[in-house]
Amino acid sequence: MTTSTISEKKTPPMMPGGLPYLGYALELQRNPINFLQRGQEKFGEIFSFLLAGSQVTLLTGPKANEAFFRAPDDQLSQKEAYQFMVPIFGKGIAYDTTPDRMSEQLGFVFPALREERMQAYAGFMATEAKAYFETWGESGEVDLLAAMNELTVFIASRCLIGHEFRQHLTTEFSQLYHDLEGGINLLAFFQPYLPLPSFRRRDKARVRMVELISPIIANRRAEGNEGEDFLQALMTARYADGTALSEDNITGLLLTLLFAGQHTSAVLAAWTGILLLQHPQYLPGIMAEQQAVFGPRETFSLEGLRQLVVLERSIKEAERLRPPLIMLIRKILRDFEYNGYQVRAGGLAMVSPAVCHRLPDCFHFPNRYDPDRFTPERAEDRKAPYTLIGFGGGRHRCIGQAFAYQQVKVIWTVLLRQFELELVHQNYEPDYSTFVVGPRQPCLIRYRRVRNVRV
Ligand code: HEM
Repeated sequence: MTTSTISEKKTPPMMPGGLPYLGYALELQRNPINFLQRGQEKFGEIFSFLLAGSQVTLLTGPKANEAFFRAPDDQLSQKEAYQFMVPIFGKGIAYDTTPDRMSEQLGFVFPALREERMQAYAGFMATEAKAYFETWGESGEVDLLAAMNELTVFIASRCLIGHEFRQHLTTEFSQLYHDLEGGINLLAFFQPYLPLPSFRRRDKARVRMVELISPIIANRRAEGNEGEDFLQALMTARYADGTALSEDNITGLLLTLLFAGQHTSAVLAAWTGILLLQHPQYLPGIMAEQQAVFGPRETFSLEGLRQLVVLERSIKEAERLRPPLIMLIRKILRDFEYNGYQVRAGGLAMVSPAVCHRLPDCFHFPNRYDPDRFTPERAEDRKAPYTLIGFGGGRHRCIGQAFAYQQVKVIWTVLLRQFELELVHQNYEPDYSTFVVGPRQPCLIRYRRVRNVRV
């Protein structure tokens, strides 16, 4: 026989030990990065472990990442791995449809990410940020993550769903959002339809969301009004067969964007600030750039925001050291081969931005905070593709990265110009109990408003 059969190929090394059936579930829950890093250091680019009856294979490093991100959907399926989001996004939306249909649906969002829209969002983001920080008064202490979560909900409501929705944003929306989020946990990953109170609340909230958004659509259609927001792009969109999106479809896609983009942006904004305040030697460079680009001006153009490359490097370094999504998962539908190893269908494949971003082969002194590693001269993330993967890669790469970076830039531009800030705690550690990994709360910062805009 000349061709090798599956049985002749190596299977990835298996992490020994773990609990019966649960495997490493508890350790993964407690501190996933310690566990995954330990496996990577022991076995290298690929190893497997047991998790609640499933075999999970972690791939690490630029080449292994590339194999993961470029695998076709019928081999490594994102849809099958993210089924727990279906009750939130809705029937026939995103992970409840074929990969082709899902990419058609995500394509409807692209007009909302065009230059002129991004310009409009820059204005909305700045207005929201200034109004929000106005409520802080002269001095005090705030939980930075809680604040970033509130502000990014305001920004997302304005940019995604539009001014009508933002103007009438109620505590009901916060409650519904909270109920939807209550449906995301480890149990939902395995059994999203169990008759639990939290899943019932999730489903009721989903129905109510459509009821809140439908009248806005109806009203815009009746009055012929157009908004500069994602909702408008979805209202205008047509499937290939010419049909328009239903109100349920539109709501589902808006929820997809909200869930993909809001917590993640809040967390990235919080880590950007915490890391900067932990390394204040980088602040003068950022303030000098503010002065050079904006001077005392209070309006931030898109062009100006793009010129904030020093600030951008500190956001990128936060993305590297504290990626909001620490594990990306696919269900293995067909046997998958990597570097001579055969990974069997039925299990899960995973890459971890948090582990990859600390590989010494990719990043110089990877545990050190060093935003200058991203200067054009050093460009450590450009040495090989799939090195910095905080926004994923390949066919399912994030579509909202530019939006997220712009938002974090606006928030920190406003904050740093208006306040003197300092940290309250000695340490700010990641909280692994949530799907999007932010700083453990309370994560307080102290602020004092400065008399004149600080530039
Ligand atoms: C700091 C903020 C953000 C982070 C860290 C982030 C990260 C990611 C990552 C890692 C993926 C790939 C997931 C995978 O491969 O399994 C992804 C996909 C996605 N992101 Fe983001 N994201 C952010 C903000 C946003 C925003 C603001 C939006 C929308 C406005 C957005 C929309 C999406 C969508 C729709 C996908 C799915 C793409 C696909 O499957 O084809 N994200 N994001």
